[in-house]
Amino acid sequence: MCGIVGYTGHREAYPVIIKGLKRLEYRGYDSSGVALLNNGQLKVFRKKGKVAELEESVIGKDLQSHIGIGHTRWATHGEPSDRNAHPHQSQSGELAMIHNGIIENYTQIKQELLSKGYHFKSDTDTEVLLNFIEDIKKNNDCGLEEALRIALKRVVGAYCILLISNDDPDTIIAARKGSPLVIGIGKGEHFLASDASPIIEYTKEVVYVNDYEIAIVRPDELILKNLGNEKQTPFITKLDMELAAIEKGGYDHFMLKEIHEQPEAIFDCLRGRLLTQTGQIKMAGIENNLDAFINAPRIIIVACGTSWHAGLIAEYLIEELCRIPVEVEYASEFRYRNPVIHKGDVIIAISQSGETADTLVALESAKEKGAFIFGVVNAVGSSIARLSHAGAYTHSGPEIGVASTKAFTGQLAVLTMMALKIGYAKGAIKQPRYLQLMQDLEAVPEKVREILQDTSHIQRMAAKYKDATDFLFLGRGYNFPVALEGALKLKEISYIHAEGYPAAEMKHGPIALVDEKLPVVFVATKDSYYQKIVSNVQEIRARKGKVIAVATAGDMVIPGMSDDVMFVPDADEAIAPMLSVIPLQLLSYYTGLAKGLDVDKPRNLAKSVTVE
Ligand code: F6R
Repeated sequence: MCGIVGYTGHREAYPVIIKGLKRLEYRGYDSSGVALLNNGQLKVFRKKGKVAELEESVIGKDLQSHIGIGHTRWATHGEPSDRNAHPHQSQSGELAMIHNGIIENYTQIKQELLSKGYHFKSDTDTEVLLNFIEDIKKNNDCGLEEALRIALKRVVGAYCILLISNDDPDTIIAARKGSPLVIGIGKGEHFLASDASPIIEYTKEVVYVNDYEIAIVRPDELILKNLGNEKQTPFITKLDMELAAIEKGGYDHFMLKEIHEQPEAIFDCLRGRLLTQTGQIKMAGIENNLDAFINAPRIIIVACGTSWHAGLIAEYLIEELCRIPVEVEYASEFRYRNPVIHKGDVIIAISQSGETADTLVALESAKEKGAFIFGVVNAVGSSIARLSHAGAYTHSGPEIGVASTKAFTGQLAVLTMMALKIGYAKGAIKQPRYLQLMQDLEAVPEKVREILQDTSHIQRMAAKYKDATDFLFLGRGYNFPVALEGALKLKEISYIHAEGYPAAEMKHGPIALVDEKLPVVFVATKDSYYQKIVSNVQEIRARKGKVIAVATAGDMVIPGMSDDVMFVPDADEAIAPMLSVIPLQLLSYYTGLAKGLDVDKPRNLAKSVTVE
């Protein structure tokens, strides 16, 4: 949520910052802004809307500068508007600051500042923190760094902030707690950003700043300190990412590109881990903690959104293949209801970004209670990855489209391997099924490629149903979470109201919605529930609902009962979700497209939800 970029060095700062903000727009696009410093003069430009609108608004302006900070916003405090856009300037005009996060006790601090005569030009918590820092600097007659340190000790909440001051012509001061910050190290230059995508073009050497650290960044110098003013040694990491991975590569949208990347992404996830020839699954994070998993009285999966849907599928997988009880929790609820965590319980956290605040905070509190945390994360070096005791990366590559697609199938691939490895080691699954599932899993990339070969029928279906006001998605067993995922995808991309339901549960209420105008999507591949779902389709047809089915290639029954069909290759039911979700991703993409919507940046959303 909110993307931040900073630059100090020998290049012109503005182009670096604007390009970086475009790469970070997936984190929010309600407004954007830049602050540039030139010869002690601070210039701030801000604009409601996407970064392109900011760019247009500064045409003809003097943008010369070698140091600057930029922000793309996902609104929390205050509506999206020019005046609430970042960077904010302090009352004296000497400081400019950008912020990603939420200052929870800002009203109290604001009251104190108001009583001292401060005025506020925006509704944001950021402007309050900035003036608080300025006030401390004035009253304590200290430097900006010291003032920031004092201020942060009073702050409750999450932040990544970048600060520049017109009396320090080449320094950016940054601090983080709970919101990510990466610093790229160049020759005589430094880049700061919420993730590595704005940096990768210039350098592969980065430092991930930790919580409660302050960074003092100059062209030739990077100093890291903790809040106690003690120097910390920056740990330099080499980025394993190419620029092409974060560009559209000929596709109209990142979402479409990422849907089509799934065969390679799943392959990359399995590579070196799923060794079908020898019947081995190599996952160091599991191997090193096998006893913890095998003896776990319970596994608790914590995630949000699409990752939570992957967690639901993992519940089916782990209970079936490992015979370990599993609970799947919305991170936001888990955190606040004081959950019972027993000794030996294992927590699996699933997150694409590795920065989702609800998940992060839930894990922090579970860790405090002594739980063992295993992260299934896509973003390498992210906060959740670092907080986990052990984990397995999904290796799906950068996911930029706001709607999660390839990260979901990557999560399923990892979770399936985990369940197989643990289940087999525990003796809960017999060798023939273990080997069969390994082979089925290995075949997934090719089968996904098959589904993606011709998608024109899905595009036609999207045009046919785009004006529907509601959709119902139904599935049973492993396909129930896929139905939930299909509904989530459709609502976020096309703004059509959609509900996912267990197909049998539909009779207990939602069936009242069914009439000739309601499209009902059945995820009805051949599995152990097949006969039952055939009956559920009949129940919808009897009430004149429009039936759209995801069916197994070669099936004659379901297609014969459906208005429209999307076929997927046959697979074991435990593996099928990785296939049956693909047509649903495409259906939502093409529906959004048919409605003329911005599928990569749906309204009100952000890719990385770093506020609770
Ligand atoms: C939906 C979507 C969100 C995320 C959720 C969790 O398409 O992208 O529902 O899945 O915000 O995000 P991560 O996985 O980054 O923790």
